[in-house]
Amino acid sequence: MARTFQTVGVVGLGTMGAGIAEVFARAGLQVIGVEVNAEALERGRGNLDRSLDRAVSRGRLSETERDGIFGRTTFTGALDDLRDADLVIEAIPEIMDFKRALFTDLDRVCGPETVLATNTSSLSVTAIAATTSRPGRVIGMHFFNPAPVMKLVEVVHTVVTEEGLAGDVATLARRLGKTPVTVGDRAGFVVNRLLLGYLNHAATLLERGVAAKEDIDAAMKLGAGLPMGPFTLLDLIGLDVSHEVCEVLFQESRDRVHAPAPILRELVTAGLLGRKTGRGFHSYDDVARPAAGAGGKLGVGSVHVLGEGADELSARLSAAGFKQGEAHEADVVIALSSTPVIEHAVLLPHPERLVGLHLVGEDIAEVVSTVLTVPEVARAVGDLVRVLGRTPVPCADRAGFVVEALLYPYLNDAVRMYDAGYASMEDIDTAMRLGCGYPAGPFEMLDAIGLEVVRDGLRALYAEYREPFFAPTPLLDRLVTAGVTGIRDR
Ligand SMILES: NC(=O)c1ccc[n+]([C@@H]2O[C@H](COP(=O)([O-])OP(=O)(O)OC[C@H]3O[C@@H](n4cnc5c(N)ncnc54)[C@H](O)[C@@H]3O)[C@@H](O)[C@H]2O)c1
Repeated sequence: MARTFQTVGVVGLGTMGAGIAEVFARAGLQVIGVEVNAEALERGRGNLDRSLDRAVSRGRLSETERDGIFGRTTFTGALDDLRDADLVIEAIPEIMDFKRALFTDLDRVCGPETVLATNTSSLSVTAIAATTSRPGRVIGMHFFNPAPVMKLVEVVHTVVTEEGLAGDVATLARRLGKTPVTVGDRAGFVVNRLLLGYLNHAATLLERGVAAKEDIDAAMKLGAGLPMGPFTLLDLIGLDVSHEVCEVLFQESRDRVHAPAPILRELVTAGLLGRKTGRGFHSYDDVARPAAGAGGKLGVGSVHVLGEGADELSARLSAAGFKQGEAHEADVVIALSSTPVIEHAVLLPHPERLVGLHLVGEDIAEVVSTVLTVPEVARAVGDLVRVLGRTPVPCADRAGFVVEALLYPYLNDAVRMYDAGYASMEDIDTAMRLGCGYPAGPFEMLDAIGLEVVRDGLRALYAEYREPFFAPTPLLDRLVTAGVTGIRDR
């Protein structure tokens, strides 16, 4: 018979716990909030208070509803008060020893039927469950921050979770107005594994000098349509938390792409943890960087464009008043290309005047300097790109440049995750849309870009970096060979 949950305990009323308590109480459940001491309990009550007052002042909650939520919530310092709860969810700090000690106590205090849940982001639910006498009734219920707002809940079952329990907890999540995805107990679950792999890779590209952090941020925001760039997001999550999650991912996968980029460790050691300390990759005390304007005279006498789409771009440049010249004599040669351009440069009498240009979406253009390009020419092409109404993303002449080098391995990782039987395509798409605010899930993106384009892009990345993680997953390769165009239609 399906379980029903009426009384829920929440242990730890910090950032996540207070939000989780609010979510349960809003859905009409009785909530018992537990904290370590009176001071922390007051802080937790204050967190809930402020959040509800905000909702009332914004007209999202009536005063009667707020009073009802408070009427259903009790606060206590005694774990014993959880003895009759149907479910207890833990949201204390992400330290395994703390969690294990708490679960041992909860197992002793709570009735044998009580389900014990953890909100851990990265620790093993199986290892936590093993400290209890009821591992079959221990589960992960991973909410996202801020819990009252974010719709996603990852329901994490282990190899010993009782049959039907994950389904019952998913039903409970729906009752809370959330969208559950059900996943197994692997480091990072769906969202953190895919997200942190991508964010760490962005830090690696930065370290390799492929592009500057502001430009990588602009590329992923404007070129891939993500809500924010990777370094802005890392700063928001906190570099200490990001470093820790990567470390946990690496411990399980032993894959170099999860090994925290050294720059993360360096920033953490320096105490530059992101937004919460005022500085991380970016500085939050500064006013925004002034955007280089399109004004002023461009130092370009004549331009020559080569590559696919050259006629169209030449016509637009002529219309904008740029003189056209032959490749051997033009001041600037633009090679339109989605692949490295050095081989075009070496065929010219003045290879230092060649710059690669990759138009991505409607808003950005990657401006590619080879080892021979002189900086003034790259700068002039950057200005010229602004005249065309796009944001230039200066970068080095490497396979995938910036957007594809970051996006394709992330898509590949999602296929790998699906192929390993870890979660369904639909759940992975839902998780990334709701957990990260992405406009589309990875499988939706794959279908929109085209499987063959992504497969070929990954092959080029692998050929350049020799990083096994970049090699197309065998499933992707097989689908392209079989002529399948929509991965979700299979
Ligand atoms: N912050 C996030 O963005 C986020 C998102 C998803 C999941 N998580 C996970 O949620 C959990 C909590 O994270 P947080 O950011 O809310 O931490 P937090 O530090 O804001 O809050 C933790 C709270 O737990 C209390 N506490 C510590 N030991 C306790 C005990 N034995 N009994 C009762 N209360 C105790 C502390 O007093 C504190 O108020 C972690 O496992 C974290 O990985 C965090």
